[in-house]
Amino acid sequence: MPINPSHAQDVWKDVGEHVQFTVLQLNRQDPQHDREVFQEFADRSQAIIRSLRIRDAKPETGTQLKVSIGISSSAWDYLFPDAPKPRELETYTTLHGPKYSMPATAGDLFFHIRASNEAVVYECQTQFQRVLAPITSVLDETKGFRYFEGRAIIGFIDGTEAPAIEDAADYALVGEEDPQFINGSYAFAQKWQHDMPIWEHMTTGDQEKAVGREKFSDFELDDDDKFKNAHNVASKYEIDGVEQKIVRMNVPYAQPAVGNIGTYFIGYARHWTVTKGMLQNMVDQGDFLLTFSKLLSGQVFFIPSRDLLAQIADDDF
Ligand code: HEM
Repeated sequence: MPINPSHAQDVWKDVGEHVQFTVLQLNRQDPQHDREVFQEFADRSQAIIRSLRIRDAKPETGTQLKVSIGISSSAWDYLFPDAPKPRELETYTTLHGPKYSMPATAGDLFFHIRASNEAVVYECQTQFQRVLAPITSVLDETKGFRYFEGRAIIGFIDGTEAPAIEDAADYALVGEEDPQFINGSYAFAQKWQHDMPIWEHMTTGDQEKAVGREKFSDFELDDDDKFKNAHNVASKYEIDGVEQKIVRMNVPYAQPAVGNIGTYFIGYARHWTVTKGMLQNMVDQGDFLLTFSKLLSGQVFFIPSRDLLAQIADDDF
């Protein structure tokens, strides 16, 4: 059975304009009850999405609502202790390099909601909470937004070397290598806070060397013109000489008046080991982005296919 993107959650396309990332922790009071609530959520969440797509539909474009719901390794063990587990699902632990680290933080359930209308994003997470609030606590809730021309908040076009939309599903979705979890995906969520004054005091030329591309045109610099730890050098990950790709949908978040400005990184992958390889290279090489940033969170979640969510809802998993 080949990959079928229509059976997946929204992991392989649409960064969106208004975005919300939420990480919840299960209170772990009563495993049987929590499992039943999650089964109900697996059912209701899909009805909530369908309903909002009807309510939000525009004559020209339809709806832009996209949602993915993820489960961490520790939540998986708690909710489905007797069920099989996606092959590469593990708890992310802090990665260390010579100078920088990428910390691991707690998280059981993950939500990535995006739409062209912020009201739809609000309504979606609000309705999810009606089911989940009694058994969970909120660890983080971050609102992201699309910046001009899809640029990262550091001013560079983001996503150029990510797979094109027509190829994205193959990079984002689990395939026949793990048949029970086909059309699922490994999501890595990592919240970065940037020291923008440091970045803004750099010349455009140095910023370009730091990212590895020209700022206005997005044209890639020759390797000799990049800093050794340029982001597009450090994040590169190859297996047997073949460059690996993941589907990246990071967006900026900001409280500009208090200077709390950053990037919420989200990468969806067919293989968690690929994302992890990129992260390890970044810390090993001291990726330039790390020199002016603080990492506030990091965890990996499995995004089950919609079929698996239906099985969970039916108590069939
Ligand atoms: C603050 C967080 C980050 C920002 C602002 C950011 C931004 C960018 C930008 C502007 C580019 C160049 C254009 C492009 O090819 O998309 C890029 C490339 C890339 N980024 Fe990031 N990124 C961030 C974090 C990460 C992380 C955590 C990973 C790995 C898990 C990653 C993986 C990559 C990869 C693989 C490329 C393409 C490299 C190439 O082959 O040219 N990025 N990123």
